[in-house]
Amino acid sequence: MESHLPKKGIFTASVLQNRKLGDKFYRITIELENKAKNVFSAAVPGQFVEIDVSRLALPPENHVPAQYADASQRNVILRRPFSFADIMVSDTSVVAEILYCVLGPATLRMKTLKTGDIVSLIGPLGNGFSIAEKKKTSILIAGGMGAPPLVHLSGLMKSQCKDMEIVVFVGAKSVSDLAFFDLKVDKLIKTKVSLGEFDKHKIKTHISTDDGSAGSKGFVTDVLKDWLLKNKPDAKETIMYACGPEAMLLASAALSSEFKIPCQVSLERRMACGTGLCQSCAVKCLNKDDGSTFYKLCCKDGPIFWSDEVVWE
Ligand SMILES: Cc1cc2nc3c(=O)[nH]c(=O)nc-3n(C[C@H](O)[C@H](O)[C@H](O)COP(=O)(O)OP(=O)(O)OC[C@H]3O[C@@H](n4cnc5c(N)ncnc54)[C@H](O)[C@@H]3O)c2cc1C
Ligand code: FES
Repeated sequence: MESHLPKKGIFTASVLQNRKLGDKFYRITIELENKAKNVFSAAVPGQFVEIDVSRLALPPENHVPAQYADASQRNVILRRPFSFADIMVSDTSVVAEILYCVLGPATLRMKTLKTGDIVSLIGPLGNGFSIAEKKKTSILIAGGMGAPPLVHLSGLMKSQCKDMEIVVFVGAKSVSDLAFFDLKVDKLIKTKVSLGEFDKHKIKTHISTDDGSAGSKGFVTDVLKDWLLKNKPDAKETIMYACGPEAMLLASAALSSEFKIPCQVSLERRMACGTGLCQSCAVKCLNKDDGSTFYKLCCKDGPIFWSDEVVWE
């Protein structure tokens, strides 16, 4: 989406902090090496890095959840893709935050990173979301682990687009799947949930969980549909951004077409090289002129696509 993207490279970063959040999430804060500062200070939300975890040890056996005991033994040869939840640029440093969910051999190893450790990463990769500065309303839809790049996007939009209304919809299976740094849930009033990342920017957030353990009960896209019907935003002045599981992206694409609101989606594919060489991350796309289909690469041409260019299968 973005046409003036920073040049990617292989860089190192030192770990400032690797904090546990809830049962399965971690937030890692890294400081980029000097020669990466210019490159990463220009990175846009939705871009990602490929992290090398091949040399990291596994955590002690009693810190490996039973369901990952077998999978954890696999060697992790390929780098793994992660987007940013934030990039903080100052005169002296560029510090990035990655929010990750532990679900396999690579992320289990990432748990062991500690302050001062050095990681190798390739990036910034992919295209990133394009901010529609002239629109009046931006609607962000985050499902499960799709939250990080949208947290990053909302912060940037808040600082760059002073008059824009930003409305965020966050959904997850259950309260323990809400992957946020600063989650406040009133145990008695389950609908009273507050997400610090958005609160600090004074952004309206609508939260839902499939099981009703926090926020409204139901799918995030159902909550969004109710909101669209009630608030009737002007389609020409509105844009949607979605990141999350494929089924949620498909439902967002359907709302985009029903309400005629353009929508950018962040797609996930298994990625090997992350740079357009191995062709493992194909996304079937539609040629709107003649209805034919063709393939784009999620790592290079994406991961951000317009929802109506994707052939949803
Ligand atoms: C562009 C991009 C950005 C990402 N950003 C984040 C992020 O900010 N935070 C985060 O926690 N994760 C993110 N991911 C997913 C992350 O890369 C995987 O969770 C990680 O590679 C898992 O590695 P593992 O070895 O621990 O688990 P694996 O054993 O490799 O995977 C565990 C399970 O997750 C599924 N899975 C893994 N990667 C993908 C994928 N790319 N698409 C669909 N299913 C997958 C596998 O099928 C398997 O069921 C992102 C992926 C992409 C493509
Ligand atoms: S991951 Fe290799 S081409 Fe996309």
